Amino acid sequence: MFPIVYQRQLSASVFEMGVTAPAIARKARAGQFLMLRVDEHGERIPLTFSDWSAEEGWVRFIFMRVGKTTHQLSHLVAGDSLVDVVGPLGVATHVEGLGRVAVMGGGVGAAVAYPVARAMAEAGAEVTVILGARNRELLILEDEFRALPIKELIVMTDDGSAGEKGLVTAPLKRLCEAGEIDSSMAIGPAIMMKFCAATTKEFDVPITVSLNPIMVDGTGMCGACRVSVGGETKFGCVDGPDFDGHAVDFEQLMSRQRVYSDIEREADADFSKECSCHL
Ligand SMILES: Cc1cc2nc3c(=O)[nH]c(=O)nc-3n(C[C@H](O)[C@H](O)[C@H](O)COP(=O)(O)OP(=O)(O)OC[C@H]3O[C@@H](n4cnc5c(N)ncnc54)[C@H](O)[C@@H]3O)c2cc1C
Ligand code: FES
Repeated sequence: MFPIVYQRQLSASVFEMGVTAPAIARKARAGQFLMLRVDEHGERIPLTFSDWSAEEGWVRFIFMRVGKTTHQLSHLVAGDSLVDVVGPLGVATHVEGLGRVAVMGGGVGAAVAYPVARAMAEAGAEVTVILGARNRELLILEDEFRALPIKELIVMTDDGSAGEKGLVTAPLKRLCEAGEIDSSMAIGPAIMMKFCAATTKEFDVPITVSLNPIMVDGTGMCGACRVSVGGETKFGCVDGPDFDGHAVDFEQLMSRQRVYSDIEREADADFSKECSCHL
């Protein structure tokens, strides 16, 4: 069992959770993820480390409540336990020798962008972070990003309630046009990563994207997380989650993410009927 040491609600649908997992915390690196099960009947879901402490033996993740499992998870509090936590999984993000880099974090992707930007800055890169959210309420970790040794933090919201009004691609394009970045990384919804890739392609600026296909085992055995990169089939869990954004087939990724939509909706509706929170 993996004891939950704290749980905090960051917005109406986003939650932060810290779990005691010393063996995992000792090995975690930026960009890697874990797979967890809430209880012995539950499905396994992947969530990325947003922080960890090898000394204190905990890992933190931040998740958005989107369906049954994340709904169940959102009801757990400090003192409860998770039945399984497996990790670290996936290949860590490449952070060495990057020069001037822009890191885009969209929505809950900011949780993943945080340790990535920190690791890049620690490795000597000049990092500009662009955070995007639909509105101020959904903007997360702004203060933590401001405390990092980065060049600049640019905040974008769709409705202009915080930072500049618009999408993360607007400042990304400005940086590319001004020749101010050598490479970039985008983490967030597939559609956001697709448009960041299109923006940087125009200027021949390399971009890495952190993909989020459906995963079942997370260890390269089931094939559920297949993605097409440069015409080749790759497994998101063991070959990624980071890939060259200019080579990813985003249309295929997005259509595969929707494969189980009907079943997922039903499962969440059934759970919501039993659940006392009436969400
Ligand atoms: C490597 C990786 C890292 C991720 N990191 C984070 C994170 O840090 N924070 C966060 O909020 N979300 C993260 N996700 C997405 C998260 O795993 C899904 O939101 C979660 O599995 C949804 O489960 P559910 O039962 O609540 O929702 P459901 O209703 O079952 O699904 C809602 C949507 O979530 C996706 N999804 C469902 N099951 C899975 C699955 N087994 N594997 C992957 N995606 C699934 C699908 O696109 C689906 O349409 C990550 C996904 C991957 C692949
Ligand atoms: S999740 Fe099964 S092979 Fe990647």
